Amino acid sequence: MDGAREPWWSDATIYQIYPRSFQDSDGDGEGDLAGIVQRLEHVAALGADAVWLSPIYPSPMADGGYDVADYEGVRPTFGTLADADALIAAAHRLGLKVVFDAVPCHTSIEHPWFVERPEFYTWSDRDGPQNNWRSTFGGGAWARDPHGRGWYLHSFYPEQPDLDWRNPEVAEAFGAALRFWLARGVDGFRLDALDRLLKDPERRDDRVRDASSSPVLPEDDAGYAQLEHDRSRNAPDIGTAIAQLRAAAGDAFLVGEVYLRSEQLAPYLDALDTAFSFELFQAPWTAGAVRGALAAAAALGDGRAAWVLSNHDFPRLPNRVGAANVRAAALLLLSLPGTAFVFQGDEIGMADGQGRGPGAEPDDRHGRDRHRHPMVWDASPQGGFTSGTPWLPVNDPGGVNVADQERDPGSILRLYRDLIALRRTALRGPLALLADRAPGVVAFTRGDDHVVALNLGDAPAAAPAAGTVLRHTHDLARSDSAAPGTLAPGEGFVAVRS
Ligand code: GLC
Ligand code: MG
Repeated sequence: MDGAREPWWSDATIYQIYPRSFQDSDGDGEGDLAGIVQRLEHVAALGADAVWLSPIYPSPMADGGYDVADYEGVRPTFGTLADADALIAAAHRLGLKVVFDAVPCHTSIEHPWFVERPEFYTWSDRDGPQNNWRSTFGGGAWARDPHGRGWYLHSFYPEQPDLDWRNPEVAEAFGAALRFWLARGVDGFRLDALDRLLKDPERRDDRVRDASSSPVLPEDDAGYAQLEHDRSRNAPDIGTAIAQLRAAAGDAFLVGEVYLRSEQLAPYLDALDTAFSFELFQAPWTAGAVRGALAAAAALGDGRAAWVLSNHDFPRLPNRVGAANVRAAALLLLSLPGTAFVFQGDEIGMADGQGRGPGAEPDDRHGRDRHRHPMVWDASPQGGFTSGTPWLPVNDPGGVNVADQERDPGSILRLYRDLIALRRTALRGPLALLADRAPGVVAFTRGDDHVVALNLGDAPAAAPAAGTVLRHTHDLARSDSAAPGTLAPGEGFVAVRS
């Protein structure tokens, strides 16, 4: 390419680490930064280009660390600033970039700013809620200030007061935090809850959903699902706030978490490198829905959508698409052009767990513990995660674990490795959906040479004409032979035209 080097994130694979649940190094039952360093080889061997770490900052952990009490520190349970420096250096030595999680929408209620800089936050103009806005996690979005200064806005838990991005000093203070980490070697940021940064300046009520547009409504008529959330987020001038984040981050990689349809992402993409396609993430596992989401994201331009099928907020892949489809889901994710994100544990087919167990108080009040169980490294009683008592039980270590799958050429782990290797070396060029394919099948080409096909249906279906298999979802013996004419449910392949 005429000397113009592609940025590192184009077509990259980024591995999401949930630090609390990756590897414990000191026996306290919680994962930590030194533990992550011990396991980076696993990520490098997978072929990933980068790691994204969910928040590691000081936090009262009302929202698993997404309630940040100091943007420029490390939560002691995770380690120290020196440990963060060591992790960044160790990753770089292995050729891995490091992406941190940046949480600009809100701080923890225990952040010193909440007391010292009340003008950084979003206050009601009256002694009570200013409008009908609801918190994502249930209940009204306004709470009475424990310090007696009125009512503040919280788009998420009450322990997470929303910053006011209409105050230029907020952008300045937050930008300083981004630069703090960039100076320590971080290569980019995943930006949390971006559609919440700017709300309607007049703070009008969110519109109530039209019954015709959403037939099934929860009985609670004040519930979150009843509102369009058209005024409590995604203000028309949202791009100005995103541009301030870009100005602070220079040319570092920025991926946005934006819960909007693909066609609404343009103002975000003006300043970001990419934004997650939640349309694909939330699409039901059917050929029609997946094709629709791919087409909508492709309309943004190749590589503008980042692909993700799993993270710490939603049911894991076996629970969402079905255990029989996790291989096809990997094939889809890792064959798409643009940045793709793999959540820790997906590479071994980890399923949701039980959370803390019956009767125990959950860590996350919104019910997400099940998706956050510790990584299972081997078949030992604590799965190699900790020598102590894990903060969430380790799921059935004798079931799926890294060590067993390392030894098994037919494992999901080996499939992830092979697909990531193909992604790096062979799969190039734009995606074009193949119109001519059987019902239940999603098929597309990458560039002129490669064909990807998978069966999302529940009946065998004809495969498109495809040439020679490079990797089949299930059967290694099919490599280098002619692509199959029929795909069983959950089956798929990458092939090269002969
Ligand atoms: C994002 C995070 C989620 C968190 C929320 C509020 O959606 O992924 O875990 O609860 O933002 O910060
Ligand atoms: Mg620990």
